Amino acid sequence: MKKNIEDILAKDELEFQDIVTLLDTEGDEQKLLFDKAQQVQLDCIGKKVFYRGLVEFSNVCSKNCFYCGIRKDNTSVERYNLEDEHILEAAQFAWKNKYASMVLQAGERSDDFFINRVDNLLQKIKELTNGELGITISLGEQTEETYKRWFKSGAHRYLLRIESSSKVLYNQIHPDNDEHDFERRLSCLRTLRKVGYQTGTGVMVGLPWQTYEDLARDLLFMRDFDIDMCGMGPYIEHQDTPLYKHKNILWPIKKRFSVTLNMIAILRIIMKDINIAAATALQAIDPMGREKALRIGANVIMPNITPTLHRKDYQLYENKPCTDEGAEDCGNCMSMRIELAGREVGLGEWGDSKHFFKRK
Ligand code: 5AD
Ligand code: SF4
Ligand code: FES
Repeated sequence: MKKNIEDILAKDELEFQDIVTLLDTEGDEQKLLFDKAQQVQLDCIGKKVFYRGLVEFSNVCSKNCFYCGIRKDNTSVERYNLEDEHILEAAQFAWKNKYASMVLQAGERSDDFFINRVDNLLQKIKELTNGELGITISLGEQTEETYKRWFKSGAHRYLLRIESSSKVLYNQIHPDNDEHDFERRLSCLRTLRKVGYQTGTGVMVGLPWQTYEDLARDLLFMRDFDIDMCGMGPYIEHQDTPLYKHKNILWPIKKRFSVTLNMIAILRIIMKDINIAAATALQAIDPMGREKALRIGANVIMPNITPTLHRKDYQLYENKPCTDEGAEDCGNCMSMRIELAGREVGLGEWGDSKHFFKRK
């Protein structure tokens, strides 16, 4: 069996069945996969890890994804909306500490008030930081017009996870209505690309009913779509969500963690020069979760710089780390962790996806 893994890893191009086999590795076989991914990482993008200071500025959401703790119908969440002033302070913190980039994330909304507000914030952040702070946004499905406006105002990367590239599974984890339409999500991804964003996507790993075959197709989807960035993490059940009732059919949490690392390692092997984030959800399972990801292919990490008061209210899943630490503490803790993982922080550099520029 070991020989088989070595043969697969020696190939120039991985096929569907190879990926399925690699996804199912653990122990010594998994180590071979990790060694290969690490080698690709060091050869193609080096040791640098880039920061994206994450601000989760509101947990108000108009959608009802079955897996998510801040879905609209969850009435046990205390809803918040940070003041512009606090968001700008966080941006300034990121800039002063040479994070070089930030991510603005919130629950999904597409009302005019929200769209204008984001537009305004983007312009202010650019002004405040001399145009030096890179901005990634992760604000869900919007019209082409909105995507264009936000791009023009200074956002240059966009994250929109496809969640699962299987339409069947996508429909199982979302309500059946126009607001949660698989085709619409795909079309948003294409629009983001067309508008000019560095485009990122990703999936959750270990969803109920999900198979290795689904996950292999997710990776091939990312390769075929030719994405610039990826963020994927383990699915972690949340008790106030509809999906919670299926928790008895889930893979054990350790397995979800381990397969997520396999996903990251394989993605690094098949897409050598993209940016891959070490998802925060990894650390909800293993205290060293993100560091492990950085060693086997991930090169982006998102220190949470949301003002502490509201961090605990942005619980998409249970056991979320860094909810009590201030931005300063989290940043220090993070740089120590990165060094422990044998990586270097690319301070003051945007650290854009190399892939994006080659694609252009
Ligand atoms: N477990 C893991 N990830 C989750 N997300 C939402 N809910 C969960 C959960 N229960 C992820 C989704 C979404 C991102 C913002 O958070 O992939 O795109
Ligand atoms: Fe809203 Fe995003 Fe959660 Fe879906 S995953 S309910 S869009 S915050
Ligand atoms: Fe957030 Fe350690 S990385 S507290």
